[in-house]
Amino acid sequence: MDRPKRSIILVGMMGCGKSTVGHLLARRLGWRFVDTDAVIEARAGRGIPEIFERLGEPAFREMEAEAIAGLPGESRLRIVAVGGGALMRDDNIEALRRLGTLVYLKVTPVELARRLGAARQRPLLAGEPDKAAAAADLLEGRRARYEQADVVVCTDGFDVPRAVLAVLDAVLGYERERPDHDRID
Ligand code: S3P
Repeated sequence: MDRPKRSIILVGMMGCGKSTVGHLLARRLGWRFVDTDAVIEARAGRGIPEIFERLGEPAFREMEAEAIAGLPGESRLRIVAVGGGALMRDDNIEALRRLGTLVYLKVTPVELARRLGAARQRPLLAGEPDKAAAAADLLEGRRARYEQADVVVCTDGFDVPRAVLAVLDAVLGYERERPDHDRID
């Protein structure tokens, strides 16, 4: 199988499968996998829910921007998963674009509701009586940001191996179409 020539950055809503798909994709390509939420937790020495609770969302967003700005450069290929809110900041989008190809793992609000309906570890949905509805609202407010990704892959109804193949296929197709002057290889 061909290999993509740039890092792959997985973006999209919480529950869209970034970490699960990212892990398997990294294993298939023999690349490293980086999850910026895990970087933030390691640096802060506490979990994301606790960071939200004790320090608040603005502090978390600063930590997230720092983790993204500190990701290693283009010559080191890897799969990166970023938190669902990362694309809400322009500086994050710019930094991620410099690193690689942005792939939006798109799931419909119905599928998202199914996956997040019982979410306990998601601070943004924590106090919401109807988590599915809250997730759908959040998605609505973020959709335009996610759609700025280079590649959109809809994974509704896919199991993880199929989603991995769909991502690889879409990224390779995108790389073939990119103008030469834009290539890093
Ligand atoms: C968030 C998504 C989470 C995490 C934090 C905020 C968001 O990551 O960064 O709870 O704003 O959507 P995942 O998308 O990996 O769940």
